[in-house]
Amino acid sequence: MDPPEHRSYRSLISQRFTPRALQRIKQQVDSIADEILDGVMEGGAHAETDFVATVSALLPIWVIAEMLGVPRSDWELLFHWTNRTIGAADPEYREEGKTPRETVDAARLALFHYFNDMTEDRRKSPRDDLVSILANSEIDGEPLPPFELLSFYLLLVVAGNETTRNATSGGCSP
Ligand code: HEM
Repeated sequence: MDPPEHRSYRSLISQRFTPRALQRIKQQVDSIADEILDGVMEGGAHAETDFVATVSALLPIWVIAEMLGVPRSDWELLFHWTNRTIGAADPEYREEGKTPRETVDAARLALFHYFNDMTEDRRKSPRDDLVSILANSEIDGEPLPPFELLSFYLLLVVAGNETTRNATSGGCSP
């Protein structure tokens, strides 16, 4: 998307990504980090852990899920859909009996259905989360068209999953 359209879309939620706004959710992020580290410590203080699987793959997606307003019970679901959307070429993520393309399509469709339902819910009862903002936003006096709206959620989920996970994992390499 190019300006000026891009600017209009971006400005809908950019305020939620400022240092001050993120300070407001520090408590939630701290509690997510605590939960992850408690999981790591389950094996005891000297246990070995797979850092990617137990720490860096979880933190970013859980934080963006919290910011979007996805309930805790569905974070795992979101994690699987986004892994398949991005990593379908990897046999670890590809759905059995499906080609990579079919895996991506199925995951994206499931994610779209999920956020479509969530959009309807937040239009009826808005909360203090990103889905409520986007679901109730207007551009030029009109709600966001369905495909643009669902793609916005997908962008956030994918960006919130892959990038920071890889930066953290790479940053830990000897
Ligand atoms: C180490 C972590 C990250 C890296 C290296 C990274 C890198 C990038 C890069 C290079 C772009 C393209 C910028 C451009 O061409 O204009 C981008 C865009 C974007 N990123 Fe990230 N990103 C990271 C984390 C995140 C996270 C955690 C989120 C959200 C939860 C996110 C959301 C976005 C969004 C929404 C865009 C599109 C922005 C726009 O077009 O206005 N990113 N990112």
